[in-house]
Amino acid sequence: MAVKKILRIGDPFLLKTATPVDPRDIRSREIQQIIQNMQETMNAANGAGLAAPQIGIGRRIVIFGFEHNPRYPDREPIAETILINPEIIPLDGEIAEDWEGCLSVPKMRGLVPRPVRIRYRGYDQMARTLQRDVDGFHARVVQHECDHLDGILYPQRIRDMRQFGYEEELFAGRGTQAAG
Ligand code: NI
Repeated sequence: MAVKKILRIGDPFLLKTATPVDPRDIRSREIQQIIQNMQETMNAANGAGLAAPQIGIGRRIVIFGFEHNPRYPDREPIAETILINPEIIPLDGEIAEDWEGCLSVPKMRGLVPRPVRIRYRGYDQMARTLQRDVDGFHARVVQHECDHLDGILYPQRIRDMRQFGYEEELFAGRGTQAAG
């Protein structure tokens, strides 16, 4: 087991741009070990997703997905996915706001605008090409994780900073529904 420390907002490493993985290296021991450490770290923290820079690795690798997630109890499941060198293409112009959290911004939530429908593609852990068209929370999680590869944390995307704060305060008395 190698549960890694998750860097938190304020750590300058989270602001760096990560470098692509050579597809010929995806099946290497080094990259497979990074992926395994990311999975163990995400699972230990009940994350919906995790990007390599969050554990101090500046490579373009994200993981996401869950069957049931206690941090997002009302969200539909997302297939557990490893995505390397991801690209995202919005499928139309529709933007929606919804609540996000981040393991690097503990206990907080913010209302973030994002494209609703996207196509994403990249490589999986076996170096096969992976492409999906998705919407809703799935699309949001992927965009959030890929932002980490470009040094972007979700608070930078919040339009109205009044819609940012501690989860306990924002949703006090409103149950978990609003927290997403
Ligand atoms: Ni995050």
